[in-house]
Amino acid sequence: MYKTHTCGELRRAHIGQQVELAGWVHRRRDHGGITFVDLRDRFGLVQVVADPATSPQAHQKLEDVRNEWVIQVTGTVRSRPPGSENPHLATGEIEVETSEVRILNPAKTTPFSINKDEEVDENTRLRYRYLDLRREQMSRNILLRHRVVKFIRDFLNDHGFIEVETPILFKTTPEGARDYLVPSRLHPGEFYALPQSPQQLKQLLMVAGVERYFQIARCFRDEDQRGDRQPEFTQLDLEMSFVEREDVMALAEELFTKMVAEVTPHKRLFASPWPRFTYREVMERFGKDNPDLRYGLELKDVRDLVENSGFKVFEAALAQGGDVRALNAKGCADYTRKQIDELTEYARNFGAKGLAYIALPKDQEMRSTFAKFLTPESLEALMTRLEAEPGDLLLFVADRPAVVFETLARLRVLLAERLQLADPDVLAFCWVTDFPFVSWSEEEQRWDPSHHLFTSPMPEDIPLLDVDPGKARGQQYDMVLNNYEVGGGSIRIHDRQLQEKVFALIGLEPDVARERFGHLLEAFEYGTPPHGGIAPGIDRICMILAGEPNIREVIAFPKNQAARDVMGDAPSPVEPKQLEDLHIRVVPPKN
Ligand code: AMO
Ligand code: AMP
Repeated sequence: MYKTHTCGELRRAHIGQQVELAGWVHRRRDHGGITFVDLRDRFGLVQVVADPATSPQAHQKLEDVRNEWVIQVTGTVRSRPPGSENPHLATGEIEVETSEVRILNPAKTTPFSINKDEEVDENTRLRYRYLDLRREQMSRNILLRHRVVKFIRDFLNDHGFIEVETPILFKTTPEGARDYLVPSRLHPGEFYALPQSPQQLKQLLMVAGVERYFQIARCFRDEDQRGDRQPEFTQLDLEMSFVEREDVMALAEELFTKMVAEVTPHKRLFASPWPRFTYREVMERFGKDNPDLRYGLELKDVRDLVENSGFKVFEAALAQGGDVRALNAKGCADYTRKQIDELTEYARNFGAKGLAYIALPKDQEMRSTFAKFLTPESLEALMTRLEAEPGDLLLFVADRPAVVFETLARLRVLLAERLQLADPDVLAFCWVTDFPFVSWSEEEQRWDPSHHLFTSPMPEDIPLLDVDPGKARGQQYDMVLNNYEVGGGSIRIHDRQLQEKVFALIGLEPDVARERFGHLLEAFEYGTPPHGGIAPGIDRICMILAGEPNIREVIAFPKNQAARDVMGDAPSPVEPKQLEDLHIRVVPPKN
């Protein structure tokens, strides 16, 4: 071993001991001829001192070292001189007087500082990720992630779950994204698909009698990148047999409630037990199915109050089957015309044709695009419904329901950010249930599953699949935390007939269904227990616990926003011979 102790563990109790330490030069400075080095390893920092009077060789060596050199020192722990203790450092009461220094590996000047928290271009950080991970915050994030996964494994082990690995080279497992395909050398023209999730395999493990399965599972989805998405990401994938919705939700709620208490004790739960909403209720109140509960600014339906107002914008939308909804931007009445125009531009990104408003500045006339059309009674009723007070700005959108919801939901989040309404130390978990089983895809002219193909409809809604599928609800539940969907799951279909009926409903031809999912259909005929599960996203949960703005910050080696690994430079071209072996010819896109 190169070290007898870590750089973070030395305390007063070690004074007088001879120690060997090894690590990186975090910082070096000279004071009156004496050289000081802060030596760093993963466990902490310690001050190492070399005095030319007592150990000239060690001093000479420390004179030469630069930041990020890897060195080994031998020395004696001593008390720091009175007045020079550092209360911010765990090892701040002591220092190591070194007698011998060995340089293990010098370092070039790093492209950004490791010992300072400064803004660095993200592609530079990713290009030199091994250096970026040395920085304190990143090293803290990686540790947090380890603790999250460790807690999960221990908890599930204590609850009778076993971890089973499932293949990465398999067949398509659709979760709504494109597959990553792997060409087969041995079977020309045939491909494996990387799993979008282990969904089918975990269900087959239930048929296999495993009863309680989990896996810290890598999933692959070729979809548009966003801050909360990566082409490969990690789920806590779990599945249980002989359970109902409540059982899975109760287990996940207990797991994550206990996990955050241990891993982030300084954070508070918004509510326990976690609030539950039906899909309809979250949409009505927050405009999205993954709401942030940490603040108000809830949406209100105002159709009845503006219906016959004579304001053409609202009436036209309503006449076409649309909605009029509003939210109260508390305290924003003094927004200037320009600021309101900016909000309107923002709203247009989501399909809104405009943004109507009533501004209620304190001690000034009301300003509004449309209030003049309203009777005093309707105006009064609007104020009451939106709990408006002097100082508030009321924002209205009239359009198709989907546009109204999305626009107001986005405005709600934007305003809450500006007004700093969300307490970063609060974790607002909630559940959303009673999703529609399927929704109509205009683009593809067919029913799309809201969750995935294997989710069971509510038993009482099964007859609706034949007559009015859009009204049926699924046995799905989403786990939501602070504005993100952090997990999704469901009770599954475990009956071949019902599964085939669902395949047919979403327009899968029977032969295609059999080709893709025949193994599952067949398995269902050999004694399948009722089962269900859930898959919380580890990256998103760690991102929120770490207070980071995107999941790349909690992944050791993520892809950038263009889905590239800029450190290893992947994807990259391959040798012609490799393509030949795979029976593949590349036809580059024109231009
Ligand atoms: P679903 O598709 O809802 O369900 O995914 C579950 C959770 O995985 C996370 N997630 C992602 N995280 C990062 N990058 C991505 N591209 C990404 N896509 C999804 C989210 C999401 O809530 N098999 C089902 C689960 C089940 O039914 O048990 C499934 O995968 O946190
Ligand atoms: P216009 O009649 O298009 O000039 O719009 C009058 C006002 O209503 C403007 O302030 C628009 O921003 C707003 N507005 C237009 N369309 C909508 C809509 N669909 N929903 C809410 N406000 C709108």
